[in-house]
Amino acid sequence: MPPSPPPPTYSAAVAPGALPLVGHGLRLLRGSAGFLSSLHTHGDLVAVRLGPTAAQVPCHPDLLNRVLADDRLFDKGGVFYERARDVAGNGLVTCPHRDHRRQRRLVQSAFRRSQLERYAHAVQVELAAVTGTWRAGDVIDAFPVCYGLALRTLGRTLYSTAIDARLARSVEQAFDTVLNGLFRQMFLPGPVRRLPLPATLRYHRALAYLHDATRQLIADYRVAAPVGRSDRADGSEPDLLSALLAARDEDGARLTDAEVHDQVITLLAAGTETVAATLTWALWRISHHPAAEEQVRAELAEVLADGRAPGWEDLPRLGAVDRVVSETLRLHPPGWLFTRVTTAPTELAGHPLRAGTTLVFSPAAVSRHPAAYRAPAQFDPDRWRPERVTPAARLAFLPFGTGARKCVGDLFARTECVLALATLLSRWRLLPEPDADLRPVPLATVLRPRRLRLRISTR
Ligand code: HEM
Repeated sequence: MPPSPPPPTYSAAVAPGALPLVGHGLRLLRGSAGFLSSLHTHGDLVAVRLGPTAAQVPCHPDLLNRVLADDRLFDKGGVFYERARDVAGNGLVTCPHRDHRRQRRLVQSAFRRSQLERYAHAVQVELAAVTGTWRAGDVIDAFPVCYGLALRTLGRTLYSTAIDARLARSVEQAFDTVLNGLFRQMFLPGPVRRLPLPATLRYHRALAYLHDATRQLIADYRVAAPVGRSDRADGSEPDLLSALLAARDEDGARLTDAEVHDQVITLLAAGTETVAATLTWALWRISHHPAAEEQVRAELAEVLADGRAPGWEDLPRLGAVDRVVSETLRLHPPGWLFTRVTTAPTELAGHPLRAGTTLVFSPAAVSRHPAAYRAPAQFDPDRWRPERVTPAARLAFLPFGTGARKCVGDLFARTECVLALATLLSRWRLLPEPDADLRPVPLATVLRPRRLRLRISTR
């Protein structure tokens, strides 16, 4: 028998260029994912310093998969999740391993296929509302428009009953302030964070408002729309909130009101900016890649030959659009920095880690890794064709994470992005204005360009 190959070895290194006090914090904030995706040139596991916190960044896909596969040993915690808990409490994204399995089972039931089909309808309604006023020659600001679309779609998905327009507007504003402040709060040293600075006071006021308004919305919903209202043979609930309220665990217990509150904020926080950033980058990428655009247009011409808007039933035939979404997510994973904390001593890349060590999980740290992709910086949706995609490419594709903590909304997000792109590209051409500034917005929770305005013309 030939000798089995030696197990792979991985290198550990320290990222150069740390500054006194802030460590790599400034480079990380200025360059965001650019800094993280360059780290693999130093080693497979790279130590960085975020202000006072030392953290390890797995930069090899094997190592990152190992971390994400063991959610007991590498539990949620660290600078990102400490601050995220201020916003989303003990919801599904932020809860520790001990609370996760029960929550996941309950929330997962709101993302069954039969539910997703209903949510796809909300996407169509909101798309029609957003594009209804578009005229050839108009210029739109891509991210805010996509953000409005994603937020209102999720609002309609959550509450199929009407919400007072003024209330919806103030929740939207409070949400903006909170999401824009989250990373600033995360990188501020504790004593500075506790000072009554105007930005900090604004952040806390918006957070308190958001929590109160969400509590009120759930209470009103319980009165207006008792749960278990399924009007379909497949047993699907009319909306996401109803599905959450109806979900029962194996003992028949439901989520408490406080738990539903945390889940609603979690879903709004996790499911709006992420989708908006994906759409924004996809529109920019497609406008620069005539071959990909041509493939998409040919597909849309065939699938939507009768001129209708695309819907849930068309998804299996929108492969070219889906590949554009995958490739966009690979090059521009919206969530760019999450943290974990080790719950026991362990090792990674042969490097000992004490209990309580912070790790940074960034999809961007591996999504351009040369071991996984040929010409990794190139936008090439065809690399996701079934006959071309490799196991290594799949392993390094982590925009939604993987393992037990993988995004529960991944299929919903894909449905939303594919339907939105298919709808927009079947009717319009969206060409970037010359003043585009694609550098990432510093301190933003998701990777998004500073400025991308698109001029609309009809097909
Ligand atoms: C393109 C869009 C999206 C991206 C890139 C994305 C990305 C992610 C990532 C990377 C995680 C794992 C975080 C970690 O392991 O620390 C995650 C978790 C999660 N996401 Fe998403 N997400 C997207 C859309 C959505 C949507 C639309 C929803 C719901 C409406 C959602 C809800 C969640 C929830 C609840 C979790 C926690 C899952 C768990 O821990 O069991 N996400 N997402």
